[in-house]
Amino acid sequence: MYQPEIERISEELYFVAASPATRRLRTQAELLAQTDVPVLITGEAGSGKTTAARLIHSLSIRSSFPFTRVKCAALTSDLLENELFGYEHAAANGRPESTLGKFEQGVKGSILLDEFDVVPDAVQRRLLKLLETGEFFRCGGQKPIRADVRIIAATCGDLELAVAEKKVQEELFYRLSVFELRVPPLRERHEEIPLLLGHLMNRLARRYGVPAPRLSSVLLDACQQYAWPGNLRELENFAKRFLAHGSEEDALRDLHSRPRPASADKLENGNGNGHARSGSEPAAPAHPSDESSSLKLLVRNAKGEAERGAIAHALEQTHWNRKAAARLLNISYRALLYKIQEYHLVPPAESARIFDADDLRQAK
Ligand SMILES: Nc1ncnc2c1ncn2[C@@H]1O[C@H](COP(=O)(O)OP(=O)(O)O)[C@@H](O)[C@H]1O
Ligand SMILES: [Mg+2]
Repeated sequence: MYQPEIERISEELYFVAASPATRRLRTQAELLAQTDVPVLITGEAGSGKTTAARLIHSLSIRSSFPFTRVKCAALTSDLLENELFGYEHAAANGRPESTLGKFEQGVKGSILLDEFDVVPDAVQRRLLKLLETGEFFRCGGQKPIRADVRIIAATCGDLELAVAEKKVQEELFYRLSVFELRVPPLRERHEEIPLLLGHLMNRLARRYGVPAPRLSSVLLDACQQYAWPGNLRELENFAKRFLAHGSEEDALRDLHSRPRPASADKLENGNGNGHARSGSEPAAPAHPSDESSSLKLLVRNAKGEAERGAIAHALEQTHWNRKAAARLLNISYRALLYKIQEYHLVPPAESARIFDADDLRQAK
């Protein structure tokens, strides 16, 4: 299917995908948007993790509901607990009162646990419970509350290391990282820098009411050679400076005066000169097709799980009256019988007999 290279996510937010690496990211986001599984987004600072989370939300059926972002690193333990789960307290008149947390405020939407690194233990415990049971308690509350939100966590830290160091609960990590979406650093997709820079310049120029300067091939080449350790955020700041007071000469000088950090050297696929390789293909996962087929499988399984849940629920509600359950699900009786077999659903022993192939014949 044709996908534009610049896609509008919201009023002020666009998603540019003009390199194989970003197009792969876009495809994965689209597949994940069809499920409700938690996603862990990883990548360097400024590479586009928050934006990727917004993209998943905007492509999902939850898109007309809120997208809520909580910066976990910015809050202390108690504040973060209250912010996420809400709390119950006494009002001035002594009556009990509740303050809703983000899981309740953002109902039916998606919640991004941003800057999710080593969050306090108390928050980890509550989150794990929520992921296990689909329910949570407000702080100080007694009543379980259903969490109808899609959970996305984003981090530029190494959560596996945090697990090894016993700073993050292993079970929580596994539940959050059902699927990991890796946002590649800008130097692995330098072929899209000209489009990105042009797009950023145009947007900024429109915002400030000034004409967008022409970008020469010398400048674009220099931009593609540079490693951008601060990723898209650094590129955006460069565009702002260029627009605000720069001639192209100044912009080039600015670029060449930038430090080539040692960390960027190391990440430069071992060539050690601190410059993005030009002309050669960026490092790709060993088996990109394996990756997307396992994702497809995951999506299929996640859908199957949802379907299985819906069917089991309908059967329960109708006390295993399969005709009534089929009507409730708005599918044919025969389709329901197949699904019951496919998902190995069995009626509670005391209320019904195990159905067999005769049922299918009767249904014809
Ligand atoms: N694919 C993209 N296309 C266009 N702009 C992007 C894209 N990804 C990120 N950006 C922009 O780059 C900046 C940094 O992105 P952000 O998502 O905040 O990074 P991170 O969360 O990884 O630090 C933001 O201003 C964002 O709008
Ligand atoms: Mg971010």
